[in-house]
Amino acid sequence: MAGVLFAGCGGGSDSKNTSKDSSGQKESSELTDFQMEHGIGPVTEHVELDDTLNEKLITKGEKIFELKCSACHKLNSRYVGPPLGGITNTRTPAYLMNMMLNPSEMIQKHPIPKALLGEYATVMTDQNLSREDARAIVEYLASEDRKE
Ligand code: HEC
Repeated sequence: MAGVLFAGCGGGSDSKNTSKDSSGQKESSELTDFQMEHGIGPVTEHVELDDTLNEKLITKGEKIFELKCSACHKLNSRYVGPPLGGITNTRTPAYLMNMMLNPSEMIQKHPIPKALLGEYATVMTDQNLSREDARAIVEYLASEDRKE
């Protein structure tokens, strides 16, 4: 089911720009197509979830979520931040990782978190995750979404 949403974003423009060095000059109106879909931050390539999710990653991701996210997020109801249940159906893995790894720039420049800031009036704080931590949380969130 979730795979359908990501169809078509792998191929096509095979841009070799990592666009890291130019990010200092970018304003919200100048996001690339990649950044609109996958967010702004250290994850600059498409991240694919396997059809069969990795149990070890799910367990790891759930632990980190409890520790570092549950103070502000629940899956199925609004809390300090928006509910995250179903989020892997509407956002790409790379977007989610960039939001976790680079929240302040995402809130400043990406239209989705920008709008959410207006609604929730709280700034999501940087949880100092490693890229592996963020990847594990995506696996956990996807496993919850696939139960439904
Ligand atoms: C201090 C509270 C807080 C913490 C801790 C926090 N968040 Fe957030 N999060 C928010 C708020 C508030 C928003 C809405 C954007 C904003 O105002 O910053 C948000 C937005 C998001 C979004 C974007 C949702 C969308 O619809 O695109 C994702 C994804 C997310 N958070 C995931 C996480 C994860 C995963 C963690 C743990 C690593 C985490 N957040 C930790 C408060 C928090």
